[in-house]
Amino acid sequence: MRLKDFGLWNGINEVIVITKGEKLNTAPIGIIVDDENGLKARAKLYPSHTRENLERGSFFIANIVIDPLIFAISAFDDLGEDFFESLIPPVIKGALAYCEFEVKLNGLYADLNLLRGDIIRKEVRAINRGFNAVIEALVHATRFVKNRSPELEREIRHCYEIIEKCGGEREKQAMEIIKENTRIR
Ligand SMILES: Cc1cc2nc3c(=O)[nH]c(=O)nc-3n(C[C@H](O)[C@H](O)[C@H](O)COP(=O)(O)O)c2cc1C
Repeated sequence: MRLKDFGLWNGINEVIVITKGEKLNTAPIGIIVDDENGLKARAKLYPSHTRENLERGSFFIANIVIDPLIFAISAFDDLGEDFFESLIPPVIKGALAYCEFEVKLNGLYADLNLLRGDIIRKEVRAINRGFNAVIEALVHATRFVKNRSPELEREIRHCYEIIEKCGGEREKQAMEIIKENTRIR
């Protein structure tokens, strides 16, 4: 078993992390991999419900997802149970794979050790700049809602142009969620 078997390659892998508090919590998180042939990874965790749940002993399950709408909803909100195709283990509808990690919190980081995982489906999708721009816009947007920086607003507007030009329906629906939450129209 290797991280790479579940799609986690060297670099930062944007996934949806599911933890449990009073209910299931979903959030986009970047899993940092230095050795894709091994089992160890890291995540930088700023204060969030995800971090709080882990501090209280929650599991940490990463879903490998290629749906921009799932990223957009999870960035600002949590996915309800309707979005899951399995609750034990938690697997979001359409997820390509899931991985469960053992977690040790270490300052700002979580040290992760892959325990188990499964590949649910194999789908091919060409690179879509609109999808990439949704991810980029969401990273900026989750910061923007905290500091309303004009520089981030410019970056988000630039992403909108790419989403309009290159994205499909799901990317455009994701953009609407970003617009609603940032009020950048
Ligand atoms: C693509 C993407 C990657 C992100 N990566 C991280 C990360 O690695 N660490 C982090 O603390 N927040 C990250 N965030 C921000 C969190 O997803 C965001 O703060 C979210 O609202 C946290 O949700 P929660 O409070 O339900 O845990 C990322 C956001 C996006 C869109």
